[in-house]
Amino acid sequence: MKLILCGKGGCGKSTLATLLARSYAADGKQVLVVDSDESNFGLHRQLGLPLPDDFTHYFGHKKGIYADGAADVFEGGWHLSDLPAEYCSVDGTIRLMAIGKIHDAGEGCACAMGSLNRIFLEHLVLDEDEMCIVDTEAGVEHFGRGVDQFADAILMVADPSYESIMLTDKISDMAKTFGKPVYIVLNKVDAAQEAMMRESIQNSDKIIAALPADAAILAAGLKGDPLTAALLEVDAIKEALE
Ligand SMILES: Nc1ncnc2c1ncn2[C@@H]1O[C@H](COP(=O)(O)OP(=O)(O)OP(=O)(O)O)[C@@H](O)[C@H]1O
Ligand SMILES: [Mg+2]
Repeated sequence: MKLILCGKGGCGKSTLATLLARSYAADGKQVLVVDSDESNFGLHRQLGLPLPDDFTHYFGHKKGIYADGAADVFEGGWHLSDLPAEYCSVDGTIRLMAIGKIHDAGEGCACAMGSLNRIFLEHLVLDEDEMCIVDTEAGVEHFGRGVDQFADAILMVADPSYESIMLTDKISDMAKTFGKPVYIVLNKVDAAQEAMMRESIQNSDKIIAALPADAAILAAGLKGDPLTAALLEVDAIKEALE
């Protein structure tokens, strides 16, 4: 399954990507985590892995992705075994790839990363026991770029904020355009906030889990430590996705 996580800034996309990756790996699955956030550097730390080299570099130069057409490289489909080892950080059955980061002032826009992410996801071929989790940048640019059309499911993370509530409608509409199922996970909510959000979100039937604000996750996030906490609620997410 190819799963895309999305939501507003700071809602918990990377945290949930990490929790799910660990949980699927514990089930014995081969897990590919794709870091497609060109700005933030948190995911690899949460996974406790070194940041892999930008996958855009595989194509020589970012612009090569437009000029030469990365699609030719992926012709015939790519399996996990085709991923170049020098662009992966590995921990057991978890593999992390980073599409590309903005490193320097004035280096240009992130269009090449977005287009590579879309082409890669389109051509990625997964077996039954393999899982791909795509962590995205905040907002909906990846929808605009058409990345999400190549996912099997879209997981929207919503923190307790009006902006997240509004975004659930927008993302549900955009997912519908691509004919993809959308699931909503409430994150960092207490019981009162969960009840309020369930009332306010139009597609509340799509809410599959509500995660509490967890002290250990918060502390790891503050220190930049690997995420070692596990949340029971993650099992409900996996069940709903099945
Ligand atoms: N359930 C939770 N309990 C406590 N803290 C959490 C929880 N989920 C996320 N956090 C914290 O919230 C912060 C933002 O989380 P995270 O980086 O996962 O969000 P994000 O959506 O990936 O952000 P960005 O849009 O910047 O990529 C982090 O410090 C993280 O530790
Ligand atoms: Mg993130």
